Amino acid sequence: MKFYITTPLYYVNGSPHIGHSYTNIACDALARFKRLQGADVLFTTGTDEHGQKIKESAEARGMEPKVFVDSVVPVFKTLWERLNISYDEFIRTTEKRHTDVVQKILEMFYKNGDLYEGEYSGWYCTPCESFWTKMQLVDGNCPDCKRPAEQIKEKNFFFRLSKYQKWLVEYINSHEDFILPIIRRNEILSFLKGPLNDLCVSRPKSRLSWGIKIPFSEDHVTYVWFDALINYISVCGYGDDTARFKRFWPADVHMIGKDILRPHTVYWPIMLHAAGLEPPKTVFAHGWWKIGENKMSKSRGNIVNPTEMISRFGVDAYRFFLLKEVPFGMDGSFSESALISRINSDLANDLGNLLNRTLSMVEKYFSGILPERRNLKDIDEITRALIDKAKALESDITQAMDRIDFSQALGAVWNLINMSNKFIEQKAPWRLSKMGRIDELKDMMYDLYEVLRIISVALWAFLPETSDRMVSQLGLTAKKYSSKDFSWGLARSGTKIAKDKPLFPRIENIGD
Ligand code: ME8
Repeated sequence: MKFYITTPLYYVNGSPHIGHSYTNIACDALARFKRLQGADVLFTTGTDEHGQKIKESAEARGMEPKVFVDSVVPVFKTLWERLNISYDEFIRTTEKRHTDVVQKILEMFYKNGDLYEGEYSGWYCTPCESFWTKMQLVDGNCPDCKRPAEQIKEKNFFFRLSKYQKWLVEYINSHEDFILPIIRRNEILSFLKGPLNDLCVSRPKSRLSWGIKIPFSEDHVTYVWFDALINYISVCGYGDDTARFKRFWPADVHMIGKDILRPHTVYWPIMLHAAGLEPPKTVFAHGWWKIGENKMSKSRGNIVNPTEMISRFGVDAYRFFLLKEVPFGMDGSFSESALISRINSDLANDLGNLLNRTLSMVEKYFSGILPERRNLKDIDEITRALIDKAKALESDITQAMDRIDFSQALGAVWNLINMSNKFIEQKAPWRLSKMGRIDELKDMMYDLYEVLRIISVALWAFLPETSDRMVSQLGLTAKKYSSKDFSWGLARSGTKIAKDKPLFPRIENIGD
């Protein structure tokens, strides 16, 4: 089984923020879970380095574009490392392995007539790198970003999107999982009810020189979106390593934000089809993070910096909040107080306490050594229910992950955590100890330990650092997990636990 998952390639004109980290954390959780299930995973991310915006940012710093992008890429890489993003490949659109493929595709389309030269006259929005007709402008401004558009007239190369419109509509209609969630699919189908204009895929060098050279024109460079989308095939060996490309293409999931739905579900599948390649199996467009009720923007000064959040609250608290707070696909509202209340309730109270209480009891009653459990024949109802829930955890998570629903997947883990905390209250081990019912106490400690071990396996996909910390407190060593590790009964009696600091200390000072 193979699984190929991609993130967008982020523009390097600014530092990575919460939005970028969201997509990468989501992809990371999915990639890790698929690895855990035994898939041969290819997880790619990278940077989008051409175009007007990048050139302007470089100029503003008095730098050559390439020197500028070289200086920003490490900022992204450092953040991904800090967030434990387990990508397999990082691709930059300025790399030769990518520019070669872009030029190859341009030539292919030029030769087969899908690319033609024409004159463009209309309106252009530089920040969005998009062309608009006068009708589409809103008070002279770009309909997307609302900033002023400028009028331009120039010779360019156009890609025949219109020729493939009918094919695309049929493709979307016959492939239910191609665009998810369904609301995004409907959005694109409704957009495709109108006529599709051909796509301008070049920029005159007189206006923009920072782009991939068009092999058959001295006067043009490639439009940044046409260039960037191709990364999804150049990163996995197209035109270079055929065996690898065949193994991984089509991609299983292109994960994106809803802002870039159209290039991914209109331009890209048509480009692929015109090149004789299959579209990706799924393009999943997730929702948008706002800050409180506001859009995040430089002018508002409310951009959430992931590095700051991590240093104040820890990597896994941040990962957990983003994955759990909103059903994947919906918009979310970020605030420090919401993050803190998740830390205090779900992480400190529910998970942290369960580990702490269990290990304290193993220390107190059995000198820190995991006791033996009697056989499972005559167990009471609440114990049976707990063990059954633990045994079902992998399949509960799998069902949620198959729908790309992280909140639900974590919900399954927390159901088990909450049930275990309740189990402790119901069984009242302190009473068992007082009454000298030691066998029951042993069984109970074993069961709680085993639940925690299984939870640590599950959390490896979502909260890798926490998973490792749990494992070490359980007296085990972290390793490469597989589905087998979810099986009940793998805990070995005699294991010496290593209780340590609480996983998530409560945060008393509620911020904003
Ligand atoms: O669009 N909430 O790059 P980009 C959630 N280079 N996600 C957000 C977000 C927010 N507020 N802000 C950004 C580009 N994102 C192109 C992509 S792909 C071949 C080329 C995330 O740096 C989300 O994944 O503007 C969104 O799609 C992406 O960052 C846009 O990143």
